Amino acid sequence: MPQKTNRIDGLPQVNLLSGGEEKVVIHGYLGARHDLSKNLSFVPVMDNKRHQIQIVSLHNSEKPRGAHENLRYIRPNTPVAVRGLLRPRMVAKAKNKDPGNQAERPEKQNESQGEVNAENANPENWAESLAKALKGLEIVLQDIQSLNDFPSDIVMTPDTKFPPEQRHLQFIMEGNLVQALETRNSVARIIRGMLNKGSGFLEVETPLLFKSTSEGAREFIVPTRKKNMAYALPQSPQQFKQILMASRINNYYQFAKCFRDEDLRADRQPEFTQLDIEMSFANGDNVIDAVEKVILQVWRLSLGTKLPSTFPRITYDQAMSMYGSDKPDLRIPISPFARIDVLLPADLISKITPLKDPLVEAMIVPLDASPDEARAFITSFLDSTENKHLLDNPDGGPGIFIYDSSKPLQGFSAFGFEAVEQIENGLDLQDGCLIVLQARKKAPLSGGSTPLGNLRTSIHSAAVDQGYLSPVDWKDFRPLWVTDFPLFKPPDSTEPGQGGNAGLASTHHPFTSPKTPEDVDLLLKDPTKAIGDHYDLVINGEEIGGGSRRIHHAAMQEFVFRDILKMNEERIAEFSHLLEALRAGCPPHAGIALGFERLVAMIRSSKDKKKRSLRDVIAFPKSGKGEDLMMKSPGPMSEEVLKTYHLKLRE
Ligand code: AMO
Repeated sequence: MPQKTNRIDGLPQVNLLSGGEEKVVIHGYLGARHDLSKNLSFVPVMDNKRHQIQIVSLHNSEKPRGAHENLRYIRPNTPVAVRGLLRPRMVAKAKNKDPGNQAERPEKQNESQGEVNAENANPENWAESLAKALKGLEIVLQDIQSLNDFPSDIVMTPDTKFPPEQRHLQFIMEGNLVQALETRNSVARIIRGMLNKGSGFLEVETPLLFKSTSEGAREFIVPTRKKNMAYALPQSPQQFKQILMASRINNYYQFAKCFRDEDLRADRQPEFTQLDIEMSFANGDNVIDAVEKVILQVWRLSLGTKLPSTFPRITYDQAMSMYGSDKPDLRIPISPFARIDVLLPADLISKITPLKDPLVEAMIVPLDASPDEARAFITSFLDSTENKHLLDNPDGGPGIFIYDSSKPLQGFSAFGFEAVEQIENGLDLQDGCLIVLQARKKAPLSGGSTPLGNLRTSIHSAAVDQGYLSPVDWKDFRPLWVTDFPLFKPPDSTEPGQGGNAGLASTHHPFTSPKTPEDVDLLLKDPTKAIGDHYDLVINGEEIGGGSRRIHHAAMQEFVFRDILKMNEERIAEFSHLLEALRAGCPPHAGIALGFERLVAMIRSSKDKKKRSLRDVIAFPKSGKGEDLMMKSPGPMSEEVLKTYHLKLRE
């Protein structure tokens, strides 16, 4: 293969000396050829980023089987090496007399400050001026060599959509996939730049072949050739990073591969990356502070967006009772919930719930619709099969009322005069807005959302689809910290938890410290009421990260395993390495992990003004069934493999 002299995007920088020409060799992919005559053809050659240069091919009567004839045998999309004379483009030169046709590269930034690539330095201007500069040039073909003929059976038109089985062709066709990897790369560099810069963080890689422990999520097991012995892939490097704290590595971070064999959703992959952080002699505030700085810098350099220097904090109970979600999207223009059972007449309550002494919450949805439009909207919303699950609630479905000033008591007669007066008081209710009531038991909140919370997000997205609420602004970010989660919850059938016999599982993992001395006392009296020193970073309704201050005394950790979760001795022994490390003078420590793909997908969604999923920012993602459709993994195990690992399939 002839060595290239220049990259295509570097051609505008070539000095065209003698006679306004310069000999160059470039590598790239051949585009579609236009034959103006038998003797004259034009064909673009482009690089992987679609920067393209025009090649002019002329028949040379002295070489009847020369480059011009070779070109005609080479199919579009073939990787080629082209030798020729770079010169100002003839047509362009005539049309455009601008001599300053050189794309100026943006100045490089200091790497330690974070970002260094062109993506951030006004990328649109840069790409535009480069394209313009390349348009002003052409290469007169002297020689062309196919480096691997592109097959005729792969048809690529601008409209061709390739399936995940042909991921490589998806990459060729869908420019946004490459951009996503570039963003992933640049965000990682910003973060590394931040954490390496004077903060005393050490990037440490921890093993992927770990062992099975009851941390919380279901693991992937890796059998070995040693009979009955298996590794497990880490669901997170949690235990390793805590051991690093005991090892006097004060501040640790890692872009850590994590593996979880859990039910997949759009925001989950079985294999994903965390930005994992742990700090010793630190509490939650110190971690929150460090993470806010990182997020601010990522948003500033990737999107040019200035976030508030500290993010608001609300407790889990506040989040659940105000928004019905532990990860509320604060952009949604629906009012926080208000408790109104004290205002409502008993017969209205009995119509919306079979519960005896319920708690009734209300939200106001400010639809930009007439009362008739609002009625039609909510009727079709409630009738849709897609929303059936929102109404299937043993505590009663929602009660929905439409504000209509042409009706007695504005359509709220069922509320009674006094309640209407109180509701209207201080609220700017407009015709067409909805009041949605939902009853629930008077009991502590648990789980990730309430039925009214689910209605809040579903009604919002349906109303946006129909133009009754404005769509989200892709530049609007509302970060917040949700804190003070209960330490324990009832076991969840979809997660293995810690396998203890107490009828409890850790809400996150069993290493989180109780928040206050009172919470430590509650461990003895009523562990279900104990609050953990845990914090989730939520941005626009997505859980971007979660972390906590850890238990750093071995005795306390063992007490949680044995006396609170009631794990058996065998399970406790799985954690002996951690207990040993804590016992060796481990300092107080706290940490967090951010879902790196969730972070990058959020940045990409904002850049593309379109919701991007985790799959859009992973080079080789797994499908909704956890399969890599291109590699066809997982694959079946042959008899031979089973034998090697001393395994036998059960009938
Ligand atoms: P947690 O389980 O909350 O905490 O995970 C931290 C963050 O990782 C992301 N995440 C995922 N991303 C993609 N696919 C998944 N299946 C997936 N699961 C989680 C989320 C989540 O907020 N060891 C603790 C962290 C700590 O305490 O320091 C942990 O793993 O964005």
